[in-house]
Amino acid sequence: MGLTDSASVRDMDMPPTLLSESEIQSRVDELASEIDATYADTEMLVLIGVLKGSFIFLSDLARRLKVPHRVEFIAVSSYGAKESEHADPVRLLMDVRHGIDGEDVLLVEDIVDTGHTLAYLKRLFAAHEPNSVRTCTLLHKPDRTEQEVPIDFLGFTIPDVWVVGYGLDYAERHRTLPYIGELPPEMR
Ligand code: PRP
Repeated sequence: MGLTDSASVRDMDMPPTLLSESEIQSRVDELASEIDATYADTEMLVLIGVLKGSFIFLSDLARRLKVPHRVEFIAVSSYGAKESEHADPVRLLMDVRHGIDGEDVLLVEDIVDTGHTLAYLKRLFAAHEPNSVRTCTLLHKPDRTEQEVPIDFLGFTIPDVWVVGYGLDYAERHRTLPYIGELPPEMR
């Protein structure tokens, strides 16, 4: 098999594009401008990325911001369907390192699906009495909403399809694709 053949075999592993790299980068530019305008008078914005999915979006977004900011990460996990009797379907795996009392907090997500994760995090952080808590997500799937949570900065509204790339995975695959792909059933 020649080089061309092996390249085309690899192309077959590439999910078809839902949002291209340039569409994403343009939208991240716009989101950074919106966030800068909202926090024009803020001395230090605290960006909290929700691991793992937000790590690429957060790094692109943060590097475009003009408002002074610091970066924190938090990790959460969802309970599976069998554990659905739990009062809260989300649990905390790793907390932020520094306190956020009196701070302006922006939670950064790759995707809001059912809304449980963002709703849980808003409740969690509100208890710390920050000055403000807003939310930013690259993607939102409104068809999947189970818990309404306000999204202050939104990249794209998408249909209920399985998306990968730009931080999002399928069984840990495709996370570092530079675009958002739609994973068809035959690729799962
Ligand atoms: C994804 C995503 C959000 C959450 C959204 O994380 O990063 O945190 O799901 O879903 P929800 O709105 O239904 O709560 P995932 O559990 O896939 O973990 P990962 O980011 O580590 O891949």
